[in-house]
Amino acid sequence: MQEKIIILDFGSQTTQLIGRRVRELNTYCEILPYNKFPYDDPSVIGVILSGSPFSVYDEKSFKIDVNSLRKKMPVLGICYGAQLMAWELGGNVESAPSREYGRARLTKVDNSNPLLTGIEPGAQVWMSHGDTITSLPDIFHPIASTEDVPVAAYQATDGEKTWGVQFHPEVYHSECGMQLLRNFVVDICGSKCDWSAASFIESTVKELREQLGNDRIILGLSGGVDSSVAAVLLNKAIGSNLTCIFVDHGMLRKDEFKNVMRDYECLGLNVIGVDASAEFFDKLAGVTDPERKRKIIGAGFIDVFDREASKITDAKWLAQGTIYPDCIESLSITGTTIKSHHNVGGLPEKMNLKLCEPLRLLFKDEVRAVGRELGIPEHLIGRHPFPGPGLAVRILGDITPEKVAVLQEADHIFIQGLRDWGLYDKVWQAGVILLPVQSVGVMGDERTYERAVALRAVTSTDAMTADWAHLPYEFLAHVSNEIINKVRGVNRVCYDISSKPPSTIEWE
Ligand code: XMP
Repeated sequence: MQEKIIILDFGSQTTQLIGRRVRELNTYCEILPYNKFPYDDPSVIGVILSGSPFSVYDEKSFKIDVNSLRKKMPVLGICYGAQLMAWELGGNVESAPSREYGRARLTKVDNSNPLLTGIEPGAQVWMSHGDTITSLPDIFHPIASTEDVPVAAYQATDGEKTWGVQFHPEVYHSECGMQLLRNFVVDICGSKCDWSAASFIESTVKELREQLGNDRIILGLSGGVDSSVAAVLLNKAIGSNLTCIFVDHGMLRKDEFKNVMRDYECLGLNVIGVDASAEFFDKLAGVTDPERKRKIIGAGFIDVFDREASKITDAKWLAQGTIYPDCIESLSITGTTIKSHHNVGGLPEKMNLKLCEPLRLLFKDEVRAVGRELGIPEHLIGRHPFPGPGLAVRILGDITPEKVAVLQEADHIFIQGLRDWGLYDKVWQAGVILLPVQSVGVMGDERTYERAVALRAVTSTDAMTADWAHLPYEFLAHVSNEIINKVRGVNRVCYDISSKPPSTIEWE
């Protein structure tokens, strides 16, 4: 039985991060809505209560019966989780005179307490709260403070394994955060730390063999990391019963279809490559609205996939590279749940297939680790994210094969440049946007009136927020020269210096 930590989600932005940190400790964990604790699951070794955008005294705030968890297993409340336990058991939580946000230092630390072993006064922690615990219930006592927060951490008395921390140990800026989480997960909850890419592969291959038996299964490949790893994992489990379909909608990067097909064949996958570009160009002709472009490509993809898949008459399953962040039912501020999404919307029902999602429990960095363990080459594992509609959402205005060809050349120069200058792995994602403007230039003795392109490169950890990448001027100058000299029809290059929010990564 796989032991696990349960993280109850009260709606904080950093709940997923808690999950990732616990997994970094080679410990399996699941993030569940705050009111879905699995009381009858014997494999749970501890529980973490997350933060929340609410105050405990808000009527709308999410509540649980804290006593139903205490004394049954170790409990760690983080921020709101800590306030909730203190408040429910008779303490007081009040709005702080000023919202505390950012770095703080622990002034007093009882490091004889098992939660704080190895943590010294002066350690930096990350605070993000508008409320503070002004008095603890009698059954709790403080074990750490900062200059402004007397109760930065507490434990229940009499050795009860219940703790609360006001700061966020899961955030990178909390220098002692990993130590604190290790103390909780490994020393206090007793995790055996047996969750790893290799153990995941071993158990998943076994489960997939049991689940699929001798059934045929179809998987749509996109060239991205998730679907590639799902395919190689399934191939390891059931070999030739897996058929992969890779659709070229004509909006991929330069030579991507050819190169990725070759990679897949080297990996021993059984892949059908479908060049449907002409059909997509037809459907997209004259369309300028970004949402319509997306819808046309999404629906077109389903048509092509459906057509190809229906040739495999005995298929019973559809596999998808859905990963954990796609599945977590995150809480919206109103308390309603946002349903999990699927990569290929509507297909399984339409085709009467059962759905198989072998990566649904993994975070992105774990998918990469599993991919490496499966022997997938680094250039496939480390690829930047690329939007499903591809270059269609990077050509502002209508799409023509000629514009795609211009953009592919410019994009190729930028991406190859990032690789050559050792910058590719330093950015989250990069690409070129073809702008719907022409501007005047001069080449040789001639006046030109040609297109402008924008370069976009961002740093990010999850694409929810992103900063424009501060690429060296010399590099930008080099790329600009190369594009203007080598890509016919482009005479101006700009660099996008907008962050997300308020901008987005893609322009459309
Ligand atoms: P934005 O532009 O919203 O993008 O900041 C966030 C991340 O999502 C990718 N993206 C898409 N991926 N279909 C996809 O599969 C889409 O329609 C789509 N739009 C944006 C984007 O490249 C970035 O990684």
